[in-house]
Parts: sequence; C-alpha cells; structure tokens
Amino acid sequence: MNHGRARRPPTIPEPSPSEPKGHTLSSFQELPRWPQLTDDDIEAAVAALCSNRLVGQGNSTVQEFEAALAAGQGVEHAVAVSTGTAAVHLALHVLDVGPGDEVIVPAHTFIGSASPVVYLGARPVFADVTPDTHCLDPGSVKSLITDRTKAIVVVHINGIAADMAALTAVAAEAGVPVVEDAAQALGTEIGGRPIGGFGDLACVSLFEQKVITSGGEGGAVLTDNPDYAARLRRLRSHGEGPIEGRPGMIWAHEVGYNYRLTSVQAAIGLAQHKRLGEMVEARRRNAARLSERLAGVEGLELPVEPEGTTHAFWKYAVRVAPGGGRRPAGEIAADLRSRGVPVLLRYPFPLHKQPAFAGHEGISLPVAERLSQELLALPSHPGLTEGHLDHIAHEVRRAVAVTV
Ligand SMILES: Cc1ncc(COP(=O)(O)O)c(C=O)c1O
Repeated sequence: MNHGRARRPPTIPEPSPSEPKGHTLSSFQELPRWPQLTDDDIEAAVAALCSNRLVGQGNSTVQEFEAALAAGQGVEHAVAVSTGTAAVHLALHVLDVGPGDEVIVPAHTFIGSASPVVYLGARPVFADVTPDTHCLDPGSVKSLITDRTKAIVVVHINGIAADMAALTAVAAEAGVPVVEDAAQALGTEIGGRPIGGFGDLACVSLFEQKVITSGGEGGAVLTDNPDYAARLRRLRSHGEGPIEGRPGMIWAHEVGYNYRLTSVQAAIGLAQHKRLGEMVEARRRNAARLSERLAGVEGLELPVEPEGTTHAFWKYAVRVAPGGGRRPAGEIAADLRSRGVPVLLRYPFPLHKQPAFAGHEGISLPVAERLSQELLALPSHPGLTEGHLDHIAHEVRRAVAVTV
C-alpha cells in the first residue's frame, strides 16, 4: 500500500527555443566511450612485447615511464605499480601505518582510497568534505586528529585540487604526513604546479577510465624522498633487494608484494603520457562547453575551480539541489542513462555507510551524506565532440526541468 503523497505524473518540458541547434534527441545512438587507444599506444605495446623484456626491476621501459611521470608531476621519483590501490597501499606502508594506527580519509571517494588502510591493520577515520570542491574539509580533519593518527589521505576528487595549503598546515601542526590520492587528478595543478608534490607521497591510478591509462590497470607512487622511493621499489617486488657486501645477490629485506607494472603496460602509459597535456586541455574545453550550455539551469550547481588551481575534469560533477519540484538526482541519472547518457550518482554511498566499513555507519558526515544523494558525474572525456556535449547538456536540462 502506498502511504506516501500521491505523485503527479512528470511534466516533460519542450526544448526551449534558446537550446543549441545541431542535434536531435535521437542523433546519437551511443556516446563514444573512454578510453580511446591510438595507433601509437598499440604500436608501443607491440614493441614492448617484441622486446622480450616483459617485467623485472631494472626494466628500461618501466624506468622510462617512471622518469616521464616524475618529470611531468615535478617530483624526484615515480615508482610504477600494478594499480592505484596498490599505490595507496605502498604509500601507507612506507609511512609504517600498522595495527593501532588511524588514517584520516574522506568519506566521499572511491573505496581504493581507504581499503589499503584496512590491509595494513589500521583503522580508517572518515572525514567530511567541503560543499564546493567535494574534497577533504580541513576543519573536519583537524577535529579528527588524535595521538594515533598516522597519515592523512587527501583526494583530489574528479580532478579538483584539494585545499593543500590548509590541509598540509593542519597536518604539519599535528606532525602527521600527507598522502595525495591523485588517482583522478593527472593534469590538476595548484598555482601552476602539478599535484603530486604537495604531500609526502602521492598516488596515481592508470586504470582504463582515468585521465591516462597504461592499458587497463596501472598506478604509481610519487615522492621527493629517496628513502621512500627505494623502499617502494623493494616493496613492489616482494621486498627483495641487494645485500650489502654481497654483489649480485638479493634477498627479502621485509615482506613485500608483487605489485609490478609490466613493460607492455609501461609502454602504453608512456605513449599516453606524451598526450597528457592535450588530453587535459580537451577535457577543460569540454567542461567549459558544458558549463556554458548548463549555465542558469535552476537547481543545478556547476563545478567550481578554486582560484589559482587547474581542474583536470576527470569528471564533470554537478549538484542537483533538492526542491523546486525537481526529481531526486538518482531519478534524473536513471532517466539520462535510459536515453544513452552515461551519468552516475557520485558517490551514492559514502564510505562510512558501506558494509565493508561496518562500525562506522553511526558517525555523521553531513556534506558527504548529502552529496551522495545530489551529485551527478557527467562525462567530459576527450572522445566527445561539441555535438555530443551539446546533446548531453540538452538532455540534462530536459531531465532537470521535469517536475513531479
Ligand atoms: C580516488 C581513487 N583512489 C584510488 C583509486 C584506485 O585506483 P585503481 O582502480 O587503479 O586501483 C581510484 C580509482 O579507481 C580512485 O578514483
């Protein structure tokens, strides 16, 4: 039995005469998907395969990729690993995170930012995010620091730069190291400087959906600290390394992992990395077009770009404000998906509300909780044309204007 208020059928508005021309609702059977590998990527992969040097600590293709990543992000060392989650795991491992420790992580992020805390036997402490950037809120972090806080994981969500000045100040005051989770943020800058060197370590994901990929999976840890870099290299390969005074011999200095990136992955990553600048520019151009087309839509909050920063627009996240007779963001997303526009609620379950982190569900993180019901991620990848973007914007305008 329906005890709720009777719902009127939705009213579907006609496209307004000011809508951009050049498309119809049926113009696009399916929008282009991401990633889009090029001939260069494929040739690089084949060349790496033909080299017969597929893995190994001294692999020259992996080293070349690491050098390109480090130079691109303005850090001394990049250590390539098998996934972004492995990167977070190793970054926390070299900070000696372990049982009894707490690590502060935003509740509004992908689970890979937090699960490595649990791998290490430590406790994630979920913090709230700011309503405008959706990145870690320095005030929330400050309130959660205890004697047991061993690290803070700062996520540049969707490619928006977190407030590193405020966050590193809070961390420094408490003497706690900072790990930048830059999984979504290759191309993001603060004051003209690429992210990756603002904390003690930074983590990159090269998963297929990310800004660049190393052929499906991949990641890297960035740091200026040579001791961390040496330990990271050892840990990604079973903890093995040279024995002092025993040339040519290696043994396991500590228990590590098999988190190596292969040369084929590194070759694809390297080929993609050469196009990083142009790909980020394309994302920014696409975001600007979406913003132009979505400006003034009632109830829709468009993404911000904090002053002095560069947003990489891995995702174009818009907030649907409740009220005004609008449908909830989840219904709008479902409507858009049913019409071929791949839009997701972002993230529909804050980490502290998920079964994997049972025991945390009682805490209150109002912004992360609110965003989980209101934030939509629209595509902005370089494979989209102006026509596609206009189509997406048109569909969003239509879907948001439907009232109940
Ligand atoms: C913020 C964030 N952290 C960590 C990860 C983990 O990366 P990966 O999927 O490469 O393991 C992801 C990626 O999906 C992510 O978006």
